[in-house]
Amino acid sequence: MTGKTLGIDLGTTNSCMAVAEGILPTVIPNREGGRTTPSIVAFKVDGTTVVGLPAKRQAILNPTDTIFSVKRLMGRKYDDPDVKSLMHLLPYTIGKDTANGDARVRIKERLLSPPEVSAMILRKLKDDAENYLGSEVDKAIVTVPAYFNDSQRQATKDAGTIAGLDVIRIINEPTAAALASGLGGKQDMRIAVYDLGGGTFDVSILEIARGIFEVKSTSGNTYLGGDDFDARIVAFLMEEFKKREGIDLRENPKAMQRLKEAAETAKIELSTANEVAIALPFVYEDKSMELPLTRAQFENMVKDLVEKTEIPCKKALESAKMTARDVDAVVLVGGMTRMPRVVEKVKEIFLRQPYARVNPDEVVASGAALQGSIMGGDIAEVLLLDVTPLSLGVRTVGDGFKVIIEKNTTIPIRKSEIFTTAENNQTFVNISIFQGEEEKASQNHPLGEFQLIGIKPMDAGKPRIDVTFEINADGILNVTAKDKDSGQVQSIVIKPSTGLDREQVKRMSREVQAPKPAAEPEQGAVGVAPSEPPNTGELEIAAPLPAPAPPPAEDFSDSGSSTNLPPLT
Ligand SMILES: Nc1ncnc2c1ncn2[C@@H]1O[C@H](COP(=O)(O)OP(=O)(O)OP(=O)(O)O)[C@@H](O)[C@H]1O
Ligand SMILES: [Mg+2]
Repeated sequence: MTGKTLGIDLGTTNSCMAVAEGILPTVIPNREGGRTTPSIVAFKVDGTTVVGLPAKRQAILNPTDTIFSVKRLMGRKYDDPDVKSLMHLLPYTIGKDTANGDARVRIKERLLSPPEVSAMILRKLKDDAENYLGSEVDKAIVTVPAYFNDSQRQATKDAGTIAGLDVIRIINEPTAAALASGLGGKQDMRIAVYDLGGGTFDVSILEIARGIFEVKSTSGNTYLGGDDFDARIVAFLMEEFKKREGIDLRENPKAMQRLKEAAETAKIELSTANEVAIALPFVYEDKSMELPLTRAQFENMVKDLVEKTEIPCKKALESAKMTARDVDAVVLVGGMTRMPRVVEKVKEIFLRQPYARVNPDEVVASGAALQGSIMGGDIAEVLLLDVTPLSLGVRTVGDGFKVIIEKNTTIPIRKSEIFTTAENNQTFVNISIFQGEEEKASQNHPLGEFQLIGIKPMDAGKPRIDVTFEINADGILNVTAKDKDSGQVQSIVIKPSTGLDREQVKRMSREVQAPKPAAEPEQGAVGVAPSEPPNTGELEIAAPLPAPAPPPAEDFSDSGSSTNLPPLT
């Protein structure tokens, strides 16, 4: 085995890295001496790129070219409603990849993909770790929120590859936290992980039995975190300034950056102090502002945000078929769990005092490093099982959604369902893959599609098309389709509906690893269309609505004996 495996918590706001020696994880400080690194990349006027604290420090002077919270854009489409609402909040510009509609970040005349920006953060972590350890680091375990879908996981893996890291496993943040908490080592137990970070909220219920960690359920909100708490203080400061000076600071990026920083500082101080004084000297021309903010005032501003964490907790308990009383311990993760009101809320939900012996900022990276030890064979007795956070399935005739893998299924998993045609002599079907819980396919998140061609012509409902979903240990999905009757080997073209193609990843990888001035336009950043398969989509067959699909089989084997097969389009 060459080199160490780096455990990386690639956070929305802060990232953290650790390595483990057997069962002992150690957080690696970055070059600036910090145990966490702001997940911020700045493209400076002189053409240089800076990452982490230096990027955070210059943010005020360079608001439009300082990229923060890029994790929120990972694996997302430009037209995603969440991305649309983000656009108004971010001081930098979000662009659209004309080839696949992905969200991108506009830096001067370049359009960078979110994985490329994340790769710059990962690259800094890798470099700093190598500098600290005095040896090369080429493998990593990277964590993602439990609720990340397939595109977001793939984008995270791409970021690692671009940074020159072999991402040997992607694990869920709450799972990593549970692993590092040390709970369950001596006795079997059920734990809840409550993670309120900068951008996301996750809750997971895990069961640890004889050293086996099993995630029973996960829930969360990908758009709830510390940034939202900051935004409430920012809004309050803006309103105050308008009242006092009659000036709207919204259009002034520099002032807005200052407000955001002051808001975050005040919020953090209010976790220990009962009152803070917010001072904004010369926030607008010669105008300054100074005002006090009490903890009670702040708690009032964010009451609904704190409340919003309750429903996912209830849902996670319900999916795990548990009540709060069944949970033996609650682990708090994420900087926001230092806020006293949040701790109170957790107590209300889970009816117990949270487990205090973990550092909420470091526990996820530590768990990732431990996973590295497990995979390196240094820890034998722990086995980590994960679950798929959302249901996965295919579109059937009439925009139906046939789930193949139910949400909260333990991965890795391989599961097949048999489908059929809706028309006589149909020779091809569309396999459109979606992720989500809605009944209509179109209301779920599209993951990709391909066609299975060369089906043996038969009456409608006769062909038996085996669709297999396979999720590997990283939570990444592979789909294959096979016509059982033709006996012919079919070749399938998977047309990714999102994300970077392999060539793009390779090219970006060369660029990040041999950094060049940011101002240089990236060749082919936009308009690079992946090669299209022959467009037979127009031939899509309009078929009458089929009889309702049978309920999904509970076992993971073929359900090929069914006579009422759901037809594909
Ligand atoms: N003492 C504190 N009191 C309140 N909030 C805090 C404190 N320390 C940090 N925070 C907040 O915690 C958030 C960052 O948390 P953390 O570093 O765990 O998030 P992250 O891992 O980057 O985000 P995510 O998990 O959503 O990807 C920020 O909003 C920060 O302001
Ligand atoms: Mg986090």
